[in-house]
Amino acid sequence: MILAGRLLIEPDQPPRLGWMGVAEDRIAEVGFGKPFATPDLGGEDHLICPGFIDAHLHIPQIEVAGCDGPDLLHWLERVIYPAEAQWKNHAFACRQIRLAHRRLLQAGTLGYAGYLSSHEHAPECLIKAASPPLRARVGQTLMDRGAPDGLLEPGRFDFDIPADGRIARSINPRFAVSCSDSLLAEVRRAVRDGVFIQTHLAEAPDECELVAGLFPDDEHYAGVYDRHGLLTERTLLAHCVHLTEPQWLLIARRRSVVVHCPTANTFLSSGLFDLDAARRHGVRLALGSDLAAGPDLSMPRVARAMIETAKVRAMTIAPDAYVPTPADAWRLITTGNAEALGWPDGGRLEVGAAADLLLLRPPFPVDDHLIARLLYTWRDDYIVNRIVAGHPIDCPPSEDTDP
Ligand code: GUN
Ligand code: ZN
Repeated sequence: MILAGRLLIEPDQPPRLGWMGVAEDRIAEVGFGKPFATPDLGGEDHLICPGFIDAHLHIPQIEVAGCDGPDLLHWLERVIYPAEAQWKNHAFACRQIRLAHRRLLQAGTLGYAGYLSSHEHAPECLIKAASPPLRARVGQTLMDRGAPDGLLEPGRFDFDIPADGRIARSINPRFAVSCSDSLLAEVRRAVRDGVFIQTHLAEAPDECELVAGLFPDDEHYAGVYDRHGLLTERTLLAHCVHLTEPQWLLIARRRSVVVHCPTANTFLSSGLFDLDAARRHGVRLALGSDLAAGPDLSMPRVARAMIETAKVRAMTIAPDAYVPTPADAWRLITTGNAEALGWPDGGRLEVGAAADLLLLRPPFPVDDHLIARLLYTWRDDYIVNRIVAGHPIDCPPSEDTDP
């Protein structure tokens, strides 16, 4: 398959007119100028970019986006646990997975790291229902306390995954509030080479206080995970809004990834993420929608929110705050998140890279403001084609009536 258009290879450089040959699930050729054959998709008025990658979201929360809550802990209790409890029904869980994948596709998110519900059958539902086949690191949410009984099922660490490599298991202890020491120790024993760990850390002040009370012998919140050996290079730590200096130092030393979730932090009034601290400590950074605390599934909107959070800090509490450029933010939702999720072949336009691609046709000319305009005015209908694992996938606009 030949795709033609302006190739958005580096977000801080103008896109170059060119073409791409796709064979199986890979980019097989990249050329500049006019294609040697009639393209199957695209044309000179199209942009080609890598599909977006979301480094943190909750699949079972797909239908409660926008259900407001006063703060994290009350919102979990009133909105999220009841929503996740519905996954007890196998068929319901499968339908929700299909719905979530279609909405992600609609938004141009072709890869993600995320959570299923805590039900033992959730991973099987994903394997059965994951269509379109988005690239994913996923695991059952693990909890053994502090949630309704129906959500405290034993963890499955070993579910079968399809041979095509699109789905990888991760181990997802929800957060220290809902995981006892014995569960965290079990998680540690289950971690195998190459397996990612996903959890939440220091999202909201009340959560941090609760953890301090639950684990009084630990120096701090990050220390709870570290005592169990869970801060690794393959650990994704969502939020990290309320970290102390020793915690930043520890996370930097362990080379764990901090997943900034700006839309969620605003939605739940959790706080303003300190991007300067992350940069100062050289901490690895990724960006997540955190659906459904984040009401936006579209990663360009999340990227915009990262810039806006930094601007708000600069206008209020930190006049010298670093404000990311639109190109920085765009890079993070493509190449940056791919690297954080251990996909060196993802989020980029080059020979050998995964053919998870978007063809865009935004309603403005290609000029010096291209990336800024894409981010600040983003609409999913800028996307005219979605290529998943080398195949164009139709995306019907109305998709919520799955039987
Ligand atoms: N902390 C523990 N669980 C969750 C969740 O589902 N969403 C968010 N935003 N934070 C959490
Ligand atoms: Zn989350």
